[in-house]
Amino acid sequence: MEENKRDSWGSNFGFLLAAVGSAVGLGNIWGFPYKMGKNGGGAFLIIYLALIVIVGLAVMLGELVIGRKTGMGPVGAYKKLSKKYALVGYMGLLSGFLILSFYSVLGGMVGKYMISFLISMLSGGSTFNNLTSAEFFSNFTINGWEMLIYCFLFLLATTFIVMKGISNGIEKFTKVAMPALAVLLIVIITFVLCQDGAVEGLKFMFKPDFSVYSSSSDIGFFTVLKTAAGQMFFSLSLGMGCMITYGSYLKKNTNLEKNAIIIPIADTFVAIMAGMVVMPAVFAYGLEPSAGPSLLFISLHEVFVTGMGGFIGSLMGFLFYLLVFIAAITSSISLLEVCSSFINDKKQEEHKKTNRKLPTIIISLMVFVIGVPVALDGLGSSNAIINFQPFGYCWLDFYDLISEGILMPIGALIMSLIIGWGFKTKIIKTEIEEGGLYKLKGFVFWDICFKIIVPITMLIILYAQFQDFGIIK
Ligand code: PHE
Repeated sequence: MEENKRDSWGSNFGFLLAAVGSAVGLGNIWGFPYKMGKNGGGAFLIIYLALIVIVGLAVMLGELVIGRKTGMGPVGAYKKLSKKYALVGYMGLLSGFLILSFYSVLGGMVGKYMISFLISMLSGGSTFNNLTSAEFFSNFTINGWEMLIYCFLFLLATTFIVMKGISNGIEKFTKVAMPALAVLLIVIITFVLCQDGAVEGLKFMFKPDFSVYSSSSDIGFFTVLKTAAGQMFFSLSLGMGCMITYGSYLKKNTNLEKNAIIIPIADTFVAIMAGMVVMPAVFAYGLEPSAGPSLLFISLHEVFVTGMGGFIGSLMGFLFYLLVFIAAITSSISLLEVCSSFINDKKQEEHKKTNRKLPTIIISLMVFVIGVPVALDGLGSSNAIINFQPFGYCWLDFYDLISEGILMPIGALIMSLIIGWGFKTKIIKTEIEEGGLYKLKGFVFWDICFKIIVPITMLIILYAQFQDFGIIK
């Protein structure tokens, strides 16, 4: 049936842009710099890079292979490998829902900041004059309606792109968005690094402080390891089936082994570059490199409005939030694609007619509903509309912990066991060599990663995570 023909990427380059677009997001721009700064700077970077090499690359390759081989999103893909694996796919789907719901709230907030700076710029830099950055932030975050409206608009834009399909929607959009992102990043980085005092920010980020590894420090090796691992999964969009879904639209004539290496390199490069914008900016204007959304919103707002000020401040503010907005939306489209491809995969299994528009809209509405508590608890502020905090976490942190902290490492653990022990890594070789164009180069390396390194690392990380929750002593 013609209408059931699965969409595919127009080219491997288009796929790479979309996959890097998925990987590069809020995780890179604000998660990476502050986690690195708080966890020993260079000492964190070394563990992060090591984790990418021994875990990230293999999980990336595994997901791309499973996706292309089965031609389905995570639920359909794992089911196709074996009925008993279906649960892993559903875990990925759940992560997708949770992440997209808080991601849309943050994306909406970025949209609001972008628009405010644009207005300020057009009116000669005056919009924020009577409010401090903290006031502007708290006025916005406790205004439930406004949070919901911006979240809705962000999801609407995401839905619109995803509805148009893979090559006509996602690929077309990322082909414009990613080069724009690169240009913006270069412009902003140059400007920020020229500010007095910027170097302190670089020191905060990169200066290796190996004492964080020691058990006598208040951080400790396992916390650094766990933080780096969670950040890696989130930043590379791994462990929840996003790369399975994107891989499922790849043609057989693409080199999966090479792709699996390019995406993490590009993502890490952007994370480091983004850190070189955020931290120097924060330090140049004497602000605290504090954690979480407040860094992205309050501190940087202050940099542009009070630090730089005037028209230039508003212009740089607008460009910065535009950059963050692009990074966020190229990630949110991949999250929505994971969730909505589930419905069409199901229809395809049942040989029913598939259709992109309706499932995408239905899923977006569901995501919006799941995101309501995140939007209404004012990111944990005490005078917000919703005051209930699950297990003492604000809703955003709660969703993030379930997905990044638990579901993603479990997903990666089970996937590596399935590939390494279930299929003895042969599935990788067969799929890569499928089109007859490429030979798998690093079989021994991948084999060791899937069979031993990834599972053991994941177990250590899950142990540290559960210990943190107080579930294990
Ligand atoms: N990688 C994205 C970021 O760094 C987030 C993301 C996670 C996207 C999982 C898709 C899947 O912000």
